[in-house]
Amino acid sequence: MFFRELNRGNCKTYLVGCERTRKAALIDPIKDRVDRYLAVLAYHGYRLEYAIDTHTHADHRAAAWDLRELAQARVVMHRRAPAPHVDVHVEDGDKLAVGELELKVLHTPGHTPDSMSLWAEDRVFTGDTLLVRATGRADFAGGDPGAQYDSITGKLFALPDATLVYPAHDYRGQTHTTIGDEKRANPRIAGRTRAAYVELMNNLGLPLPEKIQEALQCNQSAIDDDSVKFPSFAQLNAVRQLSARQVSERRADEDSTVLIDVREPHEYSGELGHIGGSILIPLRELAARAQELAPHKNKQIVTICRAGVRSTTAAAMLTALGFEQVSNLSGGMLDWNEQKLPVER
Ligand SMILES: [Fe+2]
Repeated sequence: MFFRELNRGNCKTYLVGCERTRKAALIDPIKDRVDRYLAVLAYHGYRLEYAIDTHTHADHRAAAWDLRELAQARVVMHRRAPAPHVDVHVEDGDKLAVGELELKVLHTPGHTPDSMSLWAEDRVFTGDTLLVRATGRADFAGGDPGAQYDSITGKLFALPDATLVYPAHDYRGQTHTTIGDEKRANPRIAGRTRAAYVELMNNLGLPLPEKIQEALQCNQSAIDDDSVKFPSFAQLNAVRQLSARQVSERRADEDSTVLIDVREPHEYSGELGHIGGSILIPLRELAARAQELAPHKNKQIVTICRAGVRSTTAAAMLTALGFEQVSNLSGGMLDWNEQKLPVER
């Protein structure tokens, strides 16, 4: 396997490739470094097949969409990723072929719901699930420390002890570790019960990452211009969340409830379908088109998207624009479909 780490900083980007077919994938590329990645690929004579994000990042802007445009790479993320414009959604157990190199997908949620690890030959790329002698924080963006404990102890620690571990971040100049070493010496996990781990992670008291607002919400929505003013964390946290069942019940009363789907048109008519009667207004157009919703001002508004993340942004924006009864479909069309509720395409 051709292998390089390309950033030499706290954020890691890995280039992996098949030496025979000269096909390659970038794992967690960052937007500021696209020129460098393209230069390295050209220098070594590799064609970029995939730009893979192990999860929706909160600390840097993802380069995946630039690499699709500039190098015709296909953007790969886990099925739970909120962003539109993902070319290949993968799930646990899937295999991605990069020439003759095979990347096996392990869904390892916890840091975020869409976190995954990629296992190839003698190594595993663990994103921010498992770090060197640490673990990724699980206190925002849908983080769940219990799920993270299960992902690490149940899935990653089931790999052979000698497996090399390459994380998405390291803040102490370390490059990699092994599954065996982390099982033995990871101070957050080793010898700790699930309950003790949850307690520890819920009380780390870390400040939010710098630039989280621009990084996280741009990555979640793939909106990378300044046309959309994103709501604050406090505004997002204040959004009322409804389960798929609750929305389904409320929908029966069409006179008092209006459903706003804020995905892109290709998603509305795509694999997950849409809820009958929902009005399509993509998130990027919402502020400019909010006046279309004026006739519904006294109704219950429910916002909808793929994973429930962009629509939470939409709900906060509408609330800020003076709509008083706005709720969000939690888990989006992913949960709606999992509940086997009816969709139209
Ligand atoms: Fe992360």
